[in-house]
Amino acid sequence: MLAGKRVLLIVTGGIAAYKCPDLVRRLTMAGAQVHCVLTKGGAQFVTPLTLSALSGEKTYEQLFSLTDESEMGHIRLARQADLCIVAPASADFLAKMANGLADDLASTLLLATNSDILVAPAMNTAMWTHPATRDNMTRLLKRGVKTVGPGEGDLACGETGEGRMAEPAEILAAIETYFSHDAPLSGRRAVVTSGPTHEAIDPVRYIANRSSGRQGHAIADALARLGAQTILVSGPTQEPDPAGIEIIRVESARDMLAAVTTALPADIAVCAAAVADWRISDVSAAKIKKTGGVPPKLELSENPDILATLGKAGNLRPGLLIGFAAETESDPEKMVKIATAKRTAKGCDWILANDVSPHTGTFGGLENAVHLIDGKKVEAWEKASKEDIARQLAARIAAHFAVAA
Ligand code: C5P
Repeated sequence: MLAGKRVLLIVTGGIAAYKCPDLVRRLTMAGAQVHCVLTKGGAQFVTPLTLSALSGEKTYEQLFSLTDESEMGHIRLARQADLCIVAPASADFLAKMANGLADDLASTLLLATNSDILVAPAMNTAMWTHPATRDNMTRLLKRGVKTVGPGEGDLACGETGEGRMAEPAEILAAIETYFSHDAPLSGRRAVVTSGPTHEAIDPVRYIANRSSGRQGHAIADALARLGAQTILVSGPTQEPDPAGIEIIRVESARDMLAAVTTALPADIAVCAAAVADWRISDVSAAKIKKTGGVPPKLELSENPDILATLGKAGNLRPGLLIGFAAETESDPEKMVKIATAKRTAKGCDWILANDVSPHTGTFGGLENAVHLIDGKKVEAWEKASKEDIARQLAARIAAHFAVAA
């Protein structure tokens, strides 16, 4: 999504600079061209060699460097950037920016640039809350400077509080959001369900399934990276929250349906959750006790089918409704047949069929192999990481809307 974007990353002097190589890696992997500039302080924490090795570009430090000026020139370095990022932005550097100082390469570039500036402040809580820093931030925000973080947490100085630099994943998400206005799914709203549901038996027990949520989370992430305003409705999972996405956490199928319904209307809905088909009819308010060797009988009721409910939601039916058919069927032909029938029965547009038999390692695993059935044809996708499958699906969704437009 950042393919072809030119980003200027200024690294100032703060211990959080140790996270910058990771940020550079993430930016280049997302397709951005990254030029790094180190302030004198920044160079105390991270070397130009590390940044250049990861960016594949020269790292700049000197304002008055004969070679740098003849090769690139600081004005060109400033002007060619689509976005300037200051991470970490120290209290001192924010003060310089607020006052328009230009006494080193980094501050000079920010005066010379026509591009927007995103800062990721990082400092001790006392410095962050100091009236001088507050004033500087107010002036910068008024001037249109954008910010990401800081968050709260353990600080390198041993204290805990606000001032911790946003994580590289959050900074990347903020950058992607900044560029998402020209992304293919910009202006589209997507709802994705993910993970298993837990159906309570009593206050301490539940029935569930082996879904990890990895595929659904990856799909939400991939859609957001293509610019869709994405809401992830997730059952209980160990998956990390995808950055920059609204997450609604739920437990049961009925909670999930309620959350999905409040998230409507949507242009796109992807039901990747492994929703429990049944719930316990009569959930015990107290922990069920062992009663002399006679196990309790659990009566089950059918849960609502979220995908099928969306399929017949009238005006609120998502423009493109996508389901999954997780089958324990190793014969691809039979699996496609079952999934095709499911597509019709549930009233969705596309269905992705996958074999989740234990030997495939799909449920809870890192990879997936799917067949996409869109009502006209069946596409067999190569086995790939769940992230790659998600990216492929998001690209397919973007292509669908590009044709429809
Ligand atoms: O019927 P089956 O569970 O195989 O259907 C799978 C598809 O239906 C998946 O997309 C799943 O997210 C969705 N589903 C649902 N609500 C249910 C059961 C399944 O949304 N209660």
